[in-house]
Amino acid sequence: TACSSGGSSTSSSGNDLGLISDGTLTVCSDVPYPPFEDFDKSSDTGFKGFDVDVVNSIAAKLDVKVEIKDSSFDALKSGLAINSNQCDLVASAMTITPEREQAMGFSDGYYDSEQSLLVGADSGIASISDLSGVKVGVQKGTTGEAYANDHASGADIVVFPSDGEMYAALKAGQVDALLQDLPVNIDHQNDPSQSGAFKVVETYDTGEKYGFAMKKTNTGLIDAVDKALGDMKSDGSYQKIYDSYFAT
Ligand code: ARG
Repeated sequence: TACSSGGSSTSSSGNDLGLISDGTLTVCSDVPYPPFEDFDKSSDTGFKGFDVDVVNSIAAKLDVKVEIKDSSFDALKSGLAINSNQCDLVASAMTITPEREQAMGFSDGYYDSEQSLLVGADSGIASISDLSGVKVGVQKGTTGEAYANDHASGADIVVFPSDGEMYAALKAGQVDALLQDLPVNIDHQNDPSQSGAFKVVETYDTGEKYGFAMKKTNTGLIDAVDKALGDMKSDGSYQKIYDSYFAT
C-alpha cells in the first residue's frame, strides 16, 4: 500500500536487475506448499511462508516490490515460467538439480532438505520396504516423485499435480502414504486440524538444497540475490526467519 520512499541516489533501479516490470520482482511459486508457501489474504502479497519471507527480505534489500503468482510446479521446474518471462524468479522450495540447472540459473542454496514418508498414525507401514501394493502419493515433477520411482519398488505410485491435492487424497483415504519433502510432511503431520492422524515414519537423506531459479542470462539478478542472501546470513535476518518456522 505505502509508496516506497525514494531519495536514495545509490539504490539499484529495477532496470539493472533485468526485471520484467521495472521496480517489481515478479515471483512464481506453486502454492500451497506449507511451510514454504501458502495463501494468506491478510498479507500484502496475498501469500505467506518461509520462501515468501526470504523473498520479501531480499526484495527490500534490492529496493523493489514483490508480486507473487501461483503457478504449476511442472511449469516452474522445467524452466518454462522463467524462460517465457512469466516471472523473474521462482521461489518454490525448488531443489537445485543438474537437470534444472541446464534450463535455469540458480541462487546459492538457501535451505537444506530431504525426503520422507508420511502415513496414517495407525498404519502398519513403517518403512519404504513396506510399500508393495500400497498407494503412494507423489507430486508431479518433484524430487519426491523421482525418489519414489527409484526406491519404492512395487508401490502403486499415484501422481498429483500439487501437494494440496495429494494431501487431500491422503485425508480422504484415496492413498495410504505420501512421499514428499520432509519439512512439508512434518507440516502435515503437525496440522492442528488433523489432531495427530498422520506421522512421518522415515526420512531419506537426499542432501537436497533449495535455490531460487532465475533466467540463466540474468546474471545481474542472480548476483544481486546471492549478495542479499549473504547479507541476510551475516546480519541475522535469515536466521530470524528460519527460527520462526523451524525452531525446535
Ligand atoms: N523440493 C521438491 C522439488 O524441487 C519439491 C518442491 C515442490 N514445491 C512446491 N512449491 N510445490 O522437486
